[in-house]
Amino acid sequence: MPDSPPALGREWLLTEQDLAATVSELRAGGLVGLPTETVYGLAADAANEAAVSKIFALKGRPADHPLIVHIAAPEHLQLWASALPSAAWELAERFWPGPLTMILHKHPRVSTLVTGGQQTIGLRIPAHPMALQVLHAFGGGLAAPSANRFGHVSPTTAQHVRDEFGAGLPRVLDGGACQVGLESTILDLTQTPPRVLRPGMLDLQAVRALLPGLQFGAIARSPRVSGALASHYAPRTPAELVASEQLQARAAELQAEGMQVQILGLDAEVRSAKHYATQLYRTLRALDQAGGDRILIEMPPEDGAWLAVWDRLQRAVANTRQG
Ligand code: TXA
Ligand code: MG
Repeated sequence: MPDSPPALGREWLLTEQDLAATVSELRAGGLVGLPTETVYGLAADAANEAAVSKIFALKGRPADHPLIVHIAAPEHLQLWASALPSAAWELAERFWPGPLTMILHKHPRVSTLVTGGQQTIGLRIPAHPMALQVLHAFGGGLAAPSANRFGHVSPTTAQHVRDEFGAGLPRVLDGGACQVGLESTILDLTQTPPRVLRPGMLDLQAVRALLPGLQFGAIARSPRVSGALASHYAPRTPAELVASEQLQARAAELQAEGMQVQILGLDAEVRSAKHYATQLYRTLRALDQAGGDRILIEMPPEDGAWLAVWDRLQRAVANTRQG
């Protein structure tokens, strides 16, 4: 895998002209491919139902799947959510802008089209200079799911977004390679105690310091069992999670059946979860393009730092029937 992208700075800002064109596109109810620090989003005016409908249509996403609304500043929380617990303000202060999505009770004026029919809403401030620039200039909230077709791997470069939608999405803003690389951590604050619905690269120990009762699922180490996991974030090529010591034998077994096998190993450079996360989706896309019959993914450590990586890997292999 290649090295991490360099830290993002002011070079990732739009020119005045591109910013104005982007904002008019959004005000007119159009869709824009938007970089964030986690993955690229498919953004539309969250207050415009026709615009929000276009997101579902382009992604091929079922209408009962709620969207995350991206906002420019913590004060905007009260425009989108109601009955805000004090923890929401504390989390916003501590972790925003950043890879944290909070689920809160929605404000009565928010359309249930955005929330997938639910009375709750997901909100976040992304930590990417270009996303913040667009959000501030636009002023309102931007509904943005990951900019991929439903069930496919999330995009971490502008080119990935173009590969997903082609001419169906003319405006894709290029903000470089995503610095986090996996989707945000989703915390449900409408439940007592609060619960992690989707692990991300946010440090859960730091969250626990603010929310001592925080609940989250354990890592289920089930290499060859797809179980009930939804096949989300999946490459098109069937994939398996294999323990390091079984990798060579499993590859040989599949090759003997005539399969072309690709291995996603834990090289010395990717032994940090943070670095591995930045590379995972682009590596899965590259392996897909290379066109083998089976991807063997070497199991990462069972350390808590790898929780989000484990979650995505288990989903990536959930569809593969084991032979
Ligand atoms: O990092 C991210 O979160 C990226 C970037 C673009 O911000 N967005 C993203 O969106 O991953 P999406 O739509 O691909 O995933 C959002 C997840 C979905 O699994 C959805 O079910 C959940 O958030 N979600 C959104 N609103 C929710 C709600 N009100 N209650 C429960 N889950 C919700
Ligand atoms: Mg997604």
